[in-house]
Amino acid sequence: MFESMEAAPKDKILALMAQYREDPRTDKIDLGVGVYKDEEGNTAVMRAIRAAEKRLHDEQETKTYVGLQGDKVFCEEMGQLVLGDAVPADRFRVCQAPGGSGALSILAMMLHRAHPHATLWLSDPSWPNHIPLLTTAGLKTQSYPYYDAATGSLLFEEMVDTLSAAEKGDILLLHGCCHNPTGADMNLDQWRAIADLCVERQIVPFVDFAYLGFGGGLAEDTAGLRLIAGRVPEMVIAVSCSKNFAVYRERVGAAIVIARNAAEADTAFSHLLSVTRSVYSMPPDHGAAAVRMILTDPALRADWQHELEEMRLRMETLRGDFADALRRASNSDRFDFIADQKGMFSRLGLSPEQVDRLREEHGIYAIGDSRINIAGLPGDRLDDVARAIVAVVD
Ligand code: LMR
Repeated sequence: MFESMEAAPKDKILALMAQYREDPRTDKIDLGVGVYKDEEGNTAVMRAIRAAEKRLHDEQETKTYVGLQGDKVFCEEMGQLVLGDAVPADRFRVCQAPGGSGALSILAMMLHRAHPHATLWLSDPSWPNHIPLLTTAGLKTQSYPYYDAATGSLLFEEMVDTLSAAEKGDILLLHGCCHNPTGADMNLDQWRAIADLCVERQIVPFVDFAYLGFGGGLAEDTAGLRLIAGRVPEMVIAVSCSKNFAVYRERVGAAIVIARNAAEADTAFSHLLSVTRSVYSMPPDHGAAAVRMILTDPALRADWQHELEEMRLRMETLRGDFADALRRASNSDRFDFIADQKGMFSRLGLSPEQVDRLREEHGIYAIGDSRINIAGLPGDRLDDVARAIVAVVD
């Protein structure tokens, strides 16, 4: 049977991660996959996670099944963390999911059941795994203009113009904060305009929320999402804890569905759980249990927030310092946009050939679209990295 198959295309981000691991150069720099790194270049286990895991190890008495929804208290806490009081509690339901990707998948499959002919609109560019993941769920996709590489700013008018072709029941994928791969986010007026557009055209917003706490902090990062959630009748949100709790491999996430009323929320949620049962049955428990412990223990929660804020501030400082280094190396303001963008990623605006040269000649790994992971920048070698970038551009 398999002789008729051709090998599947490799995921570019994961392929680059493997290539980096095999590179013997000791001065190589990894700006590829989106994982947070500290000053030493390590992706450490967060203090609160380590403490919660120890407690779990000592206190957990059984490994029996939890259930389709996963850890109910984790779900309540995630709903609160993301939505606050933006939506009345009877209108939304939360289900634990295996990471942000798991949440995106089960929500997309549930939406496909609700409206098999819906088109899902996503930003150009978007996270490279969005299209494979959403089309596997059965949804058709189309893109809307989002980012102008020449100026490093949003193409908001073009976005709104393009979305005027969306039909009732179409789905609009938005990045909650820290847009991946560009780092360019909408401001609150733009979120408001998108909320109006969704209400007017009966479009369902689908927010991918993978970087909460990495942009402007926990409160600022939820502002756009809460604004839209408070205005539209229906919406779904895929939440990831991979980055902000640094539990990448544990696969911790949540899928949130907001409906017009409690009865419709229950019906949509029953489909979400039935999708879950038919795909992987139940979500993994360990990481979500640790996150639940942190969110319900005031001391652990305070420590988590403190460490998360340190991570965010480190990235913010790196952005400013790196933009300065690029200004010195290029003698221009061409890369100034990096200082203003948010979160882990920015795009340098290099061609794929220039990105190849950066890797081959300088040992600096960026994604092919020239996306870099800001947290991967070594603070003491910013001028070297800036000079290498300018050398491949000139
Ligand atoms: C990224 O964009 O690098 C991360 O979200 C990791 C991944 O799974 O692609």
